[in-house]
Amino acid sequence: MNKKLIISILGLVVILCSLGIYKVLADQNKEVYMDDKKILIAYFSHSDNTKAVAEKIQDITGGDLFEIKPQKPYPREYNAVVEIGKQEKENNVFPELADNGNVENYDIVFIGTPVWWYTMAGPVKTFIANNNFDGKIIAPFCTHGGGGASATYTDMQKLAPNATVTEGFTSYEHSAKTEDVKKWISGLKF
Ligand SMILES: Cc1cc2nc3c(=O)[nH]c(=O)nc-3n(C[C@H](O)[C@H](O)[C@H](O)COP(=O)(O)O)c2cc1C
Repeated sequence: MNKKLIISILGLVVILCSLGIYKVLADQNKEVYMDDKKILIAYFSHSDNTKAVAEKIQDITGGDLFEIKPQKPYPREYNAVVEIGKQEKENNVFPELADNGNVENYDIVFIGTPVWWYTMAGPVKTFIANNNFDGKIIAPFCTHGGGGASATYTDMQKLAPNATVTEGFTSYEHSAKTEDVKKWISGLKF
């Protein structure tokens, strides 16, 4: 073998080793390694409790964040929104969204909602109904005011029957701790 060829091969080996070391270091910087899956974190939040959990998930996974917004914003006044939420639940309303989003390019979609009348809020129902979740993974999370997740996750599965809905992350109002969110994500089987 001539000298030039040996030097070229050695050079190539050095470059490949450097790339390998770079990848290992880059992976170590990710807090939870998700096997290069494409991640979307979609959430609706009226008083920012669910938004705070969504942002923690984004910090941990590095996924894209999408806020689900109704075309007609809900009133800020608590009793007024409670009444509208009740009417929507009783009449099975799917409120129009400002933007339906697009889950097509994602493998895992974290979906967050406040619990409204024992299930997900109306805008989250619309988001799921207006997107195609066939073959996708839904990792659901919710915040509640003391009643727990109620039917939130089972209702999500009903709206997206061909998606795999994982174990959810449920927290009271704004009590979610980053460590607990991290533990939940690490325990998910994808
Ligand atoms: C319309 C409406 C209905 C609610 N229904 C429930 C419920 O059924 N169970 C419960 O535990 N909390 C209920 N809550 C409380 C919210 O789930 C809780 O405050 C949640 O953390 C709000 O999240 P957000 O700040 O992201 O909007 C309700 C709140 C509203 C506004």
